[in-house]
Amino acid sequence: MAGYETGFRDLTEEVRDRDLPVEGNVPAWLDGSLYRNGPARWTVGDAEADHWFDGLAHLTKFAFDGGAVRYTNRFPRTDAYRAAVEDGSFAGQFSSTDGYLSRVKSMLAGDSTDNANVHVARIGGELVALTETPNWLRIDPETLERRGTLDYDDDLTTHHVTAHLRQDPDSGANWGYFTRFGRRNEYVLFRIPEGTTRRERVGSVRVEKPAYMHSFALTADHAVLVEPPLVTHPTKFLLPGAGGFIDNYDWEPSRGTRFLLFGRDSGELVRETTVPAFFTFHTANAFERERNDAAELVVDLVAYDDDSAVTDLSMNALRGGGAGFPSGELRRYRLPLDGEEPAHESLADGVEMPRFSPERHTREYEHVFAQSTEMDGGNALVRVDVGGDGGGERGVARRWEESGIFSGEPIFVPHPEGDAEADGVVLSLCLDTEAERSVLVVLDGDLTELARAPLPHAVPFGFHGEYFRD
Ligand SMILES: [Fe+2]
Repeated sequence: MAGYETGFRDLTEEVRDRDLPVEGNVPAWLDGSLYRNGPARWTVGDAEADHWFDGLAHLTKFAFDGGAVRYTNRFPRTDAYRAAVEDGSFAGQFSSTDGYLSRVKSMLAGDSTDNANVHVARIGGELVALTETPNWLRIDPETLERRGTLDYDDDLTTHHVTAHLRQDPDSGANWGYFTRFGRRNEYVLFRIPEGTTRRERVGSVRVEKPAYMHSFALTADHAVLVEPPLVTHPTKFLLPGAGGFIDNYDWEPSRGTRFLLFGRDSGELVRETTVPAFFTFHTANAFERERNDAAELVVDLVAYDDDSAVTDLSMNALRGGGAGFPSGELRRYRLPLDGEEPAHESLADGVEMPRFSPERHTREYEHVFAQSTEMDGGNALVRVDVGGDGGGERGVARRWEESGIFSGEPIFVPHPEGDAEADGVVLSLCLDTEAERSVLVVLDGDLTELARAPLPHAVPFGFHGEYFRD
């Protein structure tokens, strides 16, 4: 795709609390801040990070106030940043051959990076930058500077951990899971009560060959791990010459993909369902419901046929313009809670980064917002309508696109007094490849553009973000 490589160019400029010019009207009720995270620098001198996911963590903040937008961006001065920028080398943090998940390998050896470049959350009253090791960073919400690593108020030993926490809409607790490697490998489900940094162990399951998992799903009654057959045996990490973390994972499709359902109250593994193999990074929403007099658990997620979505993201491929974003299928899995066979249906093709209204989390819902990868020379944003079991229309209902623009993850912010699920705005940090700068785009829930605010520079393609009300 032409212009695509612009999204992988190093950024070095940092600005603080800068007023952005706004075209159009940002709704005045939008009075919080959007924080985003992602890798934004891969080269220092002759040193280069190999994998997209290995770039230095870079945070952006968009503060909304009375229709105005103020912008701050910062590379938190992590140990990884200093090693790279001040010592002029990525060595010691990123292996030239290992790639992204080498972080976990390093951690098993007692030396893991603090390059938290995946997501953000609020934990213990603080803004936190997250990655897939437990080295999460406390971040100053104004300057985006690193305050330190997050100290957990517990004694859990964790190795690989999800950077996609799910906040329980009732209690405010952040739920997650981690994988602990050792003589006994296990997936451990945990929750962090609101206002604390304490990971409470909820439940666990022992596994012989742990899988690479990226996110999970929470419903009113269950937590659901989705375990693709991209598996390892951790003793492999410790062998000399074993390569990078992800190189130690094997795609074993004959195992199928397993859904592990934990009761939220009991912490027990209450159900286990295996379906034909697929890989996934991201779940959308999940919920229980009664349908045709039977109870089922619904999980919406973006599925891939195999693990190539992980392995195709080297910087060489991306900067050469030869690769594309992974293009998955938004799929609905229906897992009966009474012993019937699971089923799935396709909701949309060619999408990633699914988001939905946080007010509908764990409940039946109507709309998924996502990046679409169908457009040539840019990425559209789409709204996929996923209700309609009662006979309504399903599938891509709305699109927003513009030639030369690659959209970022669409973050939906509900109107505080809205009634309809789509009453709110979609915030997306997009890349204008012709102007070679980024632009924050504000759309309504029907994906009609309300406003845009151009940035002073191009922010490389990032990962995830959250909007927090002030
Ligand atoms: Fe993710």
